[in-house]
Amino acid sequence: MSATLTLIAAVSADGFISTGTGVPWDLPADRAHFRAYTQNKWLLLGRRTYEEMKGWFQPGHHPLVLTRDPKFELAHGNAVSSVPEALRLARAQRELVCLGGAEVYAAAMPHAHRLVITRVHQVLGRGLAFPVISAREWEPVSRRSQGLDAEHAYEFEITTSQRIQQLDLAA
Ligand SMILES: NC(=O)c1ccc[n+]([C@@H]2O[C@H](COP(=O)([O-])OP(=O)(O)OC[C@H]3O[C@@H](n4cnc5c(N)ncnc54)[C@H](OP(=O)(O)O)[C@@H]3O)[C@@H](O)[C@H]2O)c1
Repeated sequence: MSATLTLIAAVSADGFISTGTGVPWDLPADRAHFRAYTQNKWLLLGRRTYEEMKGWFQPGHHPLVLTRDPKFELAHGNAVSSVPEALRLARAQRELVCLGGAEVYAAAMPHAHRLVITRVHQVLGRGLAFPVISAREWEPVSRRSQGLDAEHAYEFEITTSQRIQQLDLAA
C-alpha cells in the first residue's frame, strides 16, 4: 500500500508562491479550502515552512518535516531526510499532502500523483517559484473559481490535476 502524494499550493499568475517570507495574499476562501483539504491528514513540509506554520496545526494533522539536520525534533510528527522516506513512513495513509515551500515542492514534484493549485490572478514579478506544470504530464480534472468581492482582492481558480502516467510510489 502507498499513499497518494498531493502537492497543494497557491501560485501567482507568473508562477511564484512567495516573494521571500510568508504567503503574499490574504484570501479567506482559499484559506478555508486549504484547511478543509488538509484536515486529518499526514502533511509533508520543509523545515522553513514548518517554522512559519507552527501554531496552525490541528490535532488530526501529522506533520513530516523535511530537514537535513539530524538533530531536528518536533513535539508531534516526524523529521524526515528525503521525500521517499516520507512516503515510506506514510505508506499506510491514503494520502500525503505536501505543503511546500519552494525547495520541498521541487523535491516532491517527481513523486507527485496529484496537484491542487490555487492560481491567484496577481503578478508578483519575483520570488520563490513553483515547479513548471507540464500539460503533457498533468491533466486537469476539476476546477472552481472565486471572483472579486469585499474579502477577495484577487480572483483565483483552484484546479485539481492528476498525473497522466501514474507513478510507482513504492520507491
Ligand atoms: N504559496 C504557497 O502555497 C506556499 C506554501 C508553502 C510555503 N510558502 C512559502 O515558501 C517559503 C518557504 O519556502 P523555502 O523554499 O524557503 O523553504 P521550505 O521548502 O519550506 O524549507 C526548506 C528547508 O527544507 C529542508 N529541505 C529542503 N529540501 C530538502 C531535501 N531535498 N532534503 C532534505 N531537506 C530538505 C531544509 O531544511 P534544513 O535547513 O533544516 O536542513 C531547507 O532549509 C515561505 O515564504 C513560505 O511562506 C508558500
